[in-house]
Amino acid sequence: MRSHSGPSRREFIVGALGTSAVSILSPVLPAWAEAKGSLKSLAADKGILFGSAVGASAPGSLAGSLNDAGYRDILTKECSVLVPENELKSYVIAAQPDTYNFERGDRIAQFASSNGIKMRGHTLLWNRVEYTPKWLLDRVASLSPAAAEKFLRDYIQRVCTHYRDQVHSWDVVNETVDPKSGQLRDTPFTKVLGFDALRIAFEAARENAPKAQLVYNDYMSWEAGNERHRDGVLRLLEQFKARNVPVNALGVQSHIGNDGHIRDIQDKQWRAFLDTVVGMGYELLITEFDVNDKDLPGDPGTRDAQVAASAKGYLDVMLSYKQLDHVLCWGMVDKFSWLQNFSKRHDKTPQRPTPYDDNYRPKPLRDAIAAAFESAPKRNRDQ
Ligand code: G3I
Repeated sequence: MRSHSGPSRREFIVGALGTSAVSILSPVLPAWAEAKGSLKSLAADKGILFGSAVGASAPGSLAGSLNDAGYRDILTKECSVLVPENELKSYVIAAQPDTYNFERGDRIAQFASSNGIKMRGHTLLWNRVEYTPKWLLDRVASLSPAAAEKFLRDYIQRVCTHYRDQVHSWDVVNETVDPKSGQLRDTPFTKVLGFDALRIAFEAARENAPKAQLVYNDYMSWEAGNERHRDGVLRLLEQFKARNVPVNALGVQSHIGNDGHIRDIQDKQWRAFLDTVVGMGYELLITEFDVNDKDLPGDPGTRDAQVAASAKGYLDVMLSYKQLDHVLCWGMVDKFSWLQNFSKRHDKTPQRPTPYDDNYRPKPLRDAIAAAFESAPKRNRDQ
């Protein structure tokens, strides 16, 4: 356990969760935070990588955080790993038919390598029609199974070999389980190839990114209402094992808060779900952590405290699994969070789902993450 000269962990949590904001007028990382250590160093003390999503959309846009100096500053101080928010999705790389455009992804890769930050890849097959270019869906739908297999393998080869060993961990398949039915989503890929679409994606990733951790990533969560989704993901993971598909880990996205209903938690069922996953031999990652505060009170102090408490409870459970050694937030600064668009609050105030406020000041959520790392058991491997 890392030693520090600040307040005790208990005082720290109580202070952080019980008050609205600490050091309101301080710069990006106030003295107490520096003294306590960055999130990446607190995580590293336990053998964990900490990081965030970053986006290379237009400056000033929600998914354009890479263009923002304050955001970049937080990434370099706090993060040992980052993930492009949208830039490695097929709708960016292959927006135009039969053309590969890595320009936006390359800007993030360049930023990561020049700052000594590791990079995850998201995602090779997002098996949802809403997030796949129409030309690509039409093409796959028109192909024989053998031709569709070749198309998918070629695409994955092209993307994996472009980033080579820089991407040490890939979300190979994202969100292929329908949360309502627990079945595989119905897309041209699954229509033409069935389950084999997933097998082929992982095999192609293994072939072209031989050293990378290969991840199935999804958003089943611990709140009530996720039962079918969790069951569906378990069945899928069982099938991967039964058919020898090279999947190393489950990426638990961790968009907690379930549209604001942060209290409706199924702690026992969630632990049983995680126990089953690790029992099958899978590693775990937190790939997209944030806290949706849609239905929490408007007052920022009360809201931040509830968000932080909820986060701490969740992270404590997740970090108790030593199979988990990545924690990535889906954004570090509120004003760049996808939730500002996808889940607007009724009182029309902005969501506060990330560790830093819009003036780059750490919030109680940051303290909660730090405290969770401090109380986490140490992993065996070094980062
Ligand atoms: O680039 C266009 C821009 O030209 C246009 O003016 C603007 C108008 O809406 O849209 C821009 O594209 C948006 C894009 O983000 C970049 O900002 C899309 O509409 C919007 O749908 C897209 O949202 C992303 C979403 O995935 C869908 O790809 C979010 O930024 C991103 O945070 C979100 O991330 C997902 C993970 O990949 C998977 N898990 C859930 C997570 C949250 O939804």
